[in-house]
Amino acid sequence: MKTGWYKDAVFYQIYPRSFCDSNGDGIGDIRGIISKLDYLKELGVTAVWLSPVYKSPNDDNGYDISDYRDINPEFGTLDDWKEMIAGMHERGIKLVMDLVVNHTSDEHEWFKQSRSSKDNPYRDYYIWRKGKGKDGKRPPNNWTSRFTGSAWQYDETTGEWYLHLFSKKQPDLNWDNPKVRREVADICNYWFELGVDGFRCDVITYISKAEGLPDGKFNPVMCGDEHFVLGPHIHEYLNEIYEKAWSKYDTMIVGEAIGCKLTDAPMIIAEDRHELDSAITFELMDVDMKWSFFPVKFNLAKFKAVQSAWQALPKNCWNTLYYENHDQPRSITRYGNGRGYYRKELGKMLAVSYMMLRGTPYVYQGQEIGMTNIRLEEKEYVDIMATRVFSLIRKIFPPLMPVARWAMSKRARDHARTPMQWEDKTGAGFTTGKPWMKINPNLGEINVASDLKNPNSILNFYKKLIEFRKGNAVIRDGDYIEYFPKNKKVYCFERKLGSHRYIVFCNFAEKKVALNIDTIPNSRGAKLIMDNWATQEETLGDAILLKPYEAAIYEIDPSADNG
Ligand code: GLC
Ligand code: CA
Repeated sequence: MKTGWYKDAVFYQIYPRSFCDSNGDGIGDIRGIISKLDYLKELGVTAVWLSPVYKSPNDDNGYDISDYRDINPEFGTLDDWKEMIAGMHERGIKLVMDLVVNHTSDEHEWFKQSRSSKDNPYRDYYIWRKGKGKDGKRPPNNWTSRFTGSAWQYDETTGEWYLHLFSKKQPDLNWDNPKVRREVADICNYWFELGVDGFRCDVITYISKAEGLPDGKFNPVMCGDEHFVLGPHIHEYLNEIYEKAWSKYDTMIVGEAIGCKLTDAPMIIAEDRHELDSAITFELMDVDMKWSFFPVKFNLAKFKAVQSAWQALPKNCWNTLYYENHDQPRSITRYGNGRGYYRKELGKMLAVSYMMLRGTPYVYQGQEIGMTNIRLEEKEYVDIMATRVFSLIRKIFPPLMPVARWAMSKRARDHARTPMQWEDKTGAGFTTGKPWMKINPNLGEINVASDLKNPNSILNFYKKLIEFRKGNAVIRDGDYIEYFPKNKKVYCFERKLGSHRYIVFCNFAEKKVALNIDTIPNSRGAKLIMDNWATQEETLGDAILLKPYEAAIYEIDPSADNG
């Protein structure tokens, strides 16, 4: 049933709240997405990952689901959704939905039942425990929520605690209960029947918790990981959903794999294991972000080492390639100078640096026009992660507030969630009303309309690159060879299938860099096929001089020479 279509796909991630608002209430919606389907087709992407549009009280913007089978009214109706998916399919675009099943909302019917009494049939859908201490008023263990504080919430009704690895409005499901696993398979099949082409499985590495829920090693921010990241039954459970749902249709299942190291990956993504098709992993993000939230200095050599190690995954494993999503800061600000110089060159260089790799690339909305982080006052942050960090630090150690503000100015998830900049006008062409979140004031310079008009825009460069990737066997299947791994300014690698080769140069520095390249075998005479500065020599010699943030792709294609 599965054809592996995703290996040829280029994904575009839509964060619906911030994409396009059709009715002026300030919130992006499904009819807004429908109005932009031609734009996506033009861009050339062949699949969409849509962040959650299900019913939700929005404690975590839709990642807290209260009904898996219906659409949140603020996004539209199931009929709107049907029109959207039909429109995508007509344009040759697949739809991958977000599947958030490590936890539900506390407003989900299952949880309402579960919390109502200890003998309710849904009690065991969640993870309930007695507290510690004589009066049971201390949490059952020391695990922390990824949004700060204890991962346990005391519930008056039954005098027990429930586990929530995210906010207290996101209680964790008990995957050890076979009924829960049956429900998950049924939800998948419900959407497959409606035409969905796959799922991006939210924090799927957290679903199996260690027997007895033991205390974790001390860690103030991420305590307990070793007891639930890729826990004891993860493979069994993924395999079960694969058998009951994912393998029944021509699907793509990509898992958000927090904590999954390179050495773990084959165990969940190797084709013959029948678990996930691919994983969104974090080792690259960790290069300049400690504990996934504290910014540390960027080091290109480390960054390249991570990319190269993942490129060397066994052939029966498939990579996910990304720099941005709704949880990460904007790559232009993150990997660039943050001052806006050479923004266009930088945006294009970054595109080349990951789109030429082996795996399925994801473009996050706005990345294709080079959107940047936003400057926010403390009170302007709206996302639960930043607001929780601020209130925790204020409570436990106020002198650290400047550090918290600095960290969030670089790291907060808000940066990725500012409304999409379609046009240079009030509301950015995103909304005619009051946007749910502040629009980045740089919309005059950075917007889709002006990028569409400018042949040298980041957007048009993405189009070219996506087109170039399509059906390109060298990029899809070719070997990967890295050159100059220790160089801290330039990322240089080759993709090679038989004697057909691409040699890629990406200058991550804001300075000119000269590189002696006589160590790249038989590269002399390679032909220039893409260059973000448009000033390189037509053919490659023994050395190359790269301008700030320059990216250049050279090709050696013996078949072209013969013919
Ligand atoms: C994932 C999502 C993130 C969400 C969390 C809890 O990491 O990408 O946005 O807050 O899971 O569902
Ligand atoms: Ca709306």
